[in-house]
Amino acid sequence: MLFTPGEIGLLELPNRLVRSATAERMANDQGFPLPTLTALYRTLTKGGVGLIITGHMYINPDGKSHPEMTGIYTDELIPRLAELVKAVHEEGGKIAVQINHGGGNCSQETVKQAISPSAAEQVSIYNRQTQEMTEKEIRQTISDFSQAARRVKEAGFDAVQIHAAHGYLVNQFLSPLTNHRDDEWGGSLSNRSKLLQEVCLAVREQVGPDYPLFIKFGIADGCENGFSLEDGLETLQNFGSWGLDGVELSSGFSGELFSSIQKRINKPTDEGYFLPFVERARLKTELPIMAVGGFRSRTVMERVLLSGAADFISLCRPLIRDPNLPALLEAGDATHSDCLSANLCWAENKGEGISCKCFD
Ligand SMILES: Cc1cc2nc3c(=O)[nH]c(=O)nc-3n(C[C@H](O)[C@H](O)[C@H](O)COP(=O)(O)O)c2cc1C
Repeated sequence: MLFTPGEIGLLELPNRLVRSATAERMANDQGFPLPTLTALYRTLTKGGVGLIITGHMYINPDGKSHPEMTGIYTDELIPRLAELVKAVHEEGGKIAVQINHGGGNCSQETVKQAISPSAAEQVSIYNRQTQEMTEKEIRQTISDFSQAARRVKEAGFDAVQIHAAHGYLVNQFLSPLTNHRDDEWGGSLSNRSKLLQEVCLAVREQVGPDYPLFIKFGIADGCENGFSLEDGLETLQNFGSWGLDGVELSSGFSGELFSSIQKRINKPTDEGYFLPFVERARLKTELPIMAVGGFRSRTVMERVLLSGAADFISLCRPLIRDPNLPALLEAGDATHSDCLSANLCWAENKGEGISCKCFD
């Protein structure tokens, strides 16, 4: 099943393995991708993954989460981004871009005055002070998402993914933890999900009816007073009518508040740690589902696909460990990833980029 073709809207993929968005930290100060990123995508494609989703790219400098993040905020980036596409297409692969705004979850280094749905004090969920977004800023952000999606299409990428998970701006609007607004953008679930709805509709309008568009959705924050699973399941049911072709299901607000990137995956029963959510989601949507979070062995991946709960399996850390994993699994030369899930893959120094340091 893992090596049979699949579809997300009009996007046809040769197999069911997806490289989940992974912030590579391989861009210069203006967000232009470095040659190391092109080389990484070439390597991933040669390794046999069916679809690469880029690391999150910032749609506006106000939403740049961390240094060395790739940008998609100006047309000047298009030629350089198109080179990434060229490399992947030359190797016969497919590549989608994840577009994001960090909101309150942006480092001091990249954003001096962070904006978020509601103002936050210095010691807050974001670990910094933030300013409440004005109506004008909200409208500007919706437009920034749609313009970023247009650039994705113009650069020749195969699809676009909206980041609506992991405690970034869209998740901040969905979550009662961070959204205390009493206007049309806060309060009830339909008000809290209005930003996401408007972003989806604006992006769809911008890219046209046929362009593959999907979402990474944090279906639950996983902590008290956060965006609940019930909220998530209800929101998910709208995705088709909001113009989405598929959904990658994640969970977890960020940092210590229930992590989306869990450690200690030591045995098959630890794998696929968001599967209970995926199974609930399957009953609510007919859109293709990508399951992410802790998949390591072919047996577990196959079982999930065969059960029908998910249509694709997304991998992040195993492909940092070994970009060639899909080819090895397909050839029968490996049965599982030897990723230790220790989360040592983050770059520590400027210019380093992500890498597996577990076996050094
Ligand atoms: C180094 C690193 C960077 C990541 N960057 C992103 C990102 O840019 N966007 C995103 O949605 N998730 C990001 N994630 C989360 C992964 O996409 C994935 O959801 C998570 O790691 C669980 O999958 P895994 O067990 O296969 O690693 C990142 C994870 C790691 C370890």
